[in-house]
Parts: sequence; C-alpha cells; structure tokens
Amino acid sequence: MAKTNIYLFANWKMYLDLAESEKLAKELAKFSKKLPKKIKMAVFPTALSTIVVVKNLKNSVVGVGAQNVYFEDKGGFTGEVSALMHKYAGAKYALVGHSERRHLFHETNHEVKMKMEAVLNAGLMPVLCVGETAKEREDRKTEETIEIQLRSALHELNLNKTKKLIIAYEPVWAISKGTGVNDAGKHCDSAEAERLHQFIKNTVRQLLKGIEPIVLFGGSVRPNTAKEYLQKPNIDGVLVGAASTHLDSWKDIVHNAR
Ligand code: PGA
Repeated sequence: MAKTNIYLFANWKMYLDLAESEKLAKELAKFSKKLPKKIKMAVFPTALSTIVVVKNLKNSVVGVGAQNVYFEDKGGFTGEVSALMHKYAGAKYALVGHSERRHLFHETNHEVKMKMEAVLNAGLMPVLCVGETAKEREDRKTEETIEIQLRSALHELNLNKTKKLIIAYEPVWAISKGTGVNDAGKHCDSAEAERLHQFIKNTVRQLLKGIEPIVLFGGSVRPNTAKEYLQKPNIDGVLVGAASTHLDSWKDIVHNAR
C-alpha cells in the first residue's frame, strides 16, 4: 500500500557553519517548491544557525528542528539552549536522545525523559531516537535496549493534544562518520531495519494507547539505499546525517523516496 506521508529529516549535525547552513536553506527553499504533498521534510541545523534557516524556509514546506535541547526553560545553565528558546526561534521539531548525544555526551535515559517533557511542554514535536550499540547487539540485547529506552522516555508521558509520535531507529553500530559504513564496515540491511521498526511500533502502541507511532530509519542512509528502506511497510521515513548536508545527495534521496 502506498504511504500517505514520507518523512525525510535531515540532521546537519555539526557539519555546516552559519554561511553553509544559510546557503543550503536557500537552495532547499527553491527545491522544495515542487515537492509532492506526501513528502514531509525537515532540517536540523546547529542552534546557532536556526534563526537564519527558519527565516529562509519561512515560506516553504520545510520544517526546522533542534538537534538537542536543555530541559529547563531558563537559568544558569552555561552552554545550553532550552526547548522553549528553540520554539521562539521558529523550530517545530526537536531530536531527543540522538545516539551521538547518548554515547558521545553520555546522556542518560533519565535526561532523555526530561527532555521529552520539556519539548512537549514547549509545543515542539519530539523525534525520539533509540537504538543499540555494537556491544548490545553482540550480547543479543537489541530488543531489550530499545524497549528500555522507549519505556523510560514514554512512561506516563503527557503528549498533550499530540496524537502522533515520531521515533527514529538508529542502530549505533551502523552510523558512520560520513562514509556510509561504520568503522567495522557494517550496515543495517532493510529487512533487519523493518523487523526492528515493527518491534518499535508494537512496543509504543502498548505503552501509549491511542498513539500511532511514525518510525524513521537513521542508520547511514545514502541516495542508493534510501529507496530500499522506504519500500518497507513499517519504515515511514529516514533521518539522514552526512548525506543530507550536500544539496545533490539530499536531492537524490528525495527523488528516490517518491
Ligand atoms: P549518518 O547519521 O546518516 O551520517 O550516518 C545518521 C544519524 O546519526 O541518524
């Protein structure tokens, strides 16, 4: 069955500086004029570039999101930016618990939960990221890890009026530093991704009654692999890092998604 919506989310990480972010936003504003309605696109620039990117995409269908937020609204928290501040800057979405936040910056499940609450209270749409490391996979703890992450982030969560919830499945072992394969040369094939997307949907449906989860795949998606993932029934979209930061490769991903 053809999908009603396809979510194409571009996590620019710390790849683009202010001028580069502005340039890509301008190009996307033009490119997105011809997008089919079912494509829901969003970009996640650095906090420093958010206002400029929002300004350039204001009259387009492309949404803007935060890569990370702090869970307090204001105060003495040097170096942090709150969910509310991102909202005032024009963001619509926020990534919560991205694998790089969890593993490079040691963000805990407890912090992820507090960020989920702050994001929802600020009126942003969270994109909750979950996924197992290579060690957890080797130890056959893939499902257990994902379930703990989901339970902890979603337990008694007040989704306000939101009936949708966006989750990104990121197999940490398959995320590259921009090369398309991880250090050990592994990638998560589409059948395995589909299996875990189904698992995530079933778990979320049990945890939050009446919520229909949207699950995006975020494991080194490239122009030549996007189509295969998006053809799977439970993969509703992709969260792309490195390949989303160049206009040409991002255009190819969008074309392959149609
Ligand atoms: P990548 O990042 O596409 O650069 O591997 C994916 C992610 O971190 O979600």
